[in-house]
Amino acid sequence: MGFFGSTFVVNFVLLAIPIGVTLGVLFGVDASRAANGQSPIYSPVASSGGGTGTGDGGGLSGNKLTTKTYCQTSYGITPQTKGQEYTLNPNQWGWDASDGGGLCMNVTTYDNSTYPTKTTAPAWSITWEYPQGPESQPVHAFSNIKVDGGVFPAAVKSLAHIELDFHWTYGVGNDSATTTDESTLTTDTLNANVAVDMFLDSDKESSTNSSAAAYEVMVWFADFGAAAQPIGLSSGAVTTETINGTTFSLYYGTNSLKQNVLTWLASTTTDTFYGDLLPLFTKLFSLGDNTKYPTSSDYLGYFAFGSEAYYSDGFVTFSVPHLSINVTTS
Ligand SMILES: *[C@@H]1O[C@H](CO)[C@@H](O)[C@H](O)[C@H]1NC(C)=O
Ligand SMILES: *[C@@H]1O[C@H](CO)[C@@H](O)[C@H](O)[C@H]1NC(C)=O
Ligand SMILES: *[C@@H]1O[C@H](CO)[C@@H](O)[C@H](O)[C@H]1NC(C)=O
Ligand SMILES: *[C@@H]1O[C@H](CO)[C@@H](O)[C@H](O)[C@H]1NC(C)=O
Ligand SMILES: *[C@@H]1O[C@H](CO)[C@@H](O)[C@H](O)[C@H]1NC(C)=O
Ligand SMILES: *[C@@H]1O[C@H](CO)[C@@H](O)[C@H](O)[C@H]1NC(C)=O
Repeated sequence: MGFFGSTFVVNFVLLAIPIGVTLGVLFGVDASRAANGQSPIYSPVASSGGGTGTGDGGGLSGNKLTTKTYCQTSYGITPQTKGQEYTLNPNQWGWDASDGGGLCMNVTTYDNSTYPTKTTAPAWSITWEYPQGPESQPVHAFSNIKVDGGVFPAAVKSLAHIELDFHWTYGVGNDSATTTDESTLTTDTLNANVAVDMFLDSDKESSTNSSAAAYEVMVWFADFGAAAQPIGLSSGAVTTETINGTTFSLYYGTNSLKQNVLTWLASTTTDTFYGDLLPLFTKLFSLGDNTKYPTSSDYLGYFAFGSEAYYSDGFVTFSVPHLSINVTTS
């Protein structure tokens, strides 16, 4: 299990496909196909700019917040901001329309580009349904939000804090859930994780390249279903680290590209978190084996937070109403 690292390599293929599918069309087609006992089919329809916009959250008196829906396979969306820049991507890298299923991402931006704090990210969600994929490629998408704006690559030793502050929910259906109810997700056979994904290398350029970097470091905050397993889980935990009350166990393994994959897995589903991730690196450095673990002289080239979607028996929605990633250097 744990094909994340091995099949993640095409994540960076950002195809600028100006094709969108509105949720209405997507779900409408699905509803009629489902009624006929056929598997869902999603017909792309052209839409300008790759998104369908709706004024949302601003009430009747003007659109202060705008929600757009993106159903592209892979497409970076970088909302204008006066603070930390982020790029969002539906990133259905392991999916083809002929597989059935589909995913749409909603992104809610501030019209005035001024978010509550300098590091607050746009709120976003994904609604998706995928059939179970083959063992060789079980992951269909890693929909994510990436820290952008030149923060990375950065020498790890220059970092003072990587403060992560979030609240998310996963729920059955097409709307954002108010809380995460694991029993209904199990009934829906949700197989997915919620994770931070990072790449490191001793070479600055390579650290930004997901297939060339020597190390992939992940932090899993949730692990739904048997298909979503960290690489090396069966070998047992190497060590543990606790950050602000959340305990993470470290698993080690390599993927098909011979990259070292280090996964910090939270002991329980963690849908609310506030903490500095830097101790997770410090702990890796202290293990003192650069054939497996990064060292303090390496570069961190990529940092993204999202959900890997494996499969689900019905539509599920992953929603991130609150997120801030505050990277500071010393
Ligand atoms: C979500 O959309 C699909 C497709 O239209 C529909 O079949 C399903 O009933 C919807 N789910 C919910 C909970 O509304
Ligand atoms: C930007 O818009 C938000 C949402 O309407 C509002 O709360 C905030 O006060 C605005 N900030 C500025 C500087 O206009
Ligand atoms: C980011 O972190 C630094 C250092 O902890 C802090 O001084 C600053 O206020 C934080 N910024 C935000 C927007 O939270
Ligand atoms: C996403 O946006 C679409 C269209 O604006 C809306 O119909 C849908 O309810 C939104 N989904 C979520 C989870 O908020
Ligand atoms: C990333 O690394 C791979 C493998 O070394 C290489 O083939 C590819 O060209 C690199 N991509 C970029 C954008 O440099
Ligand atoms: C721990 O989390 C709480 C809120 O959940 C936050 O107020 C506090 O600053 C956090 N402490 C550290 C050291 O990050």
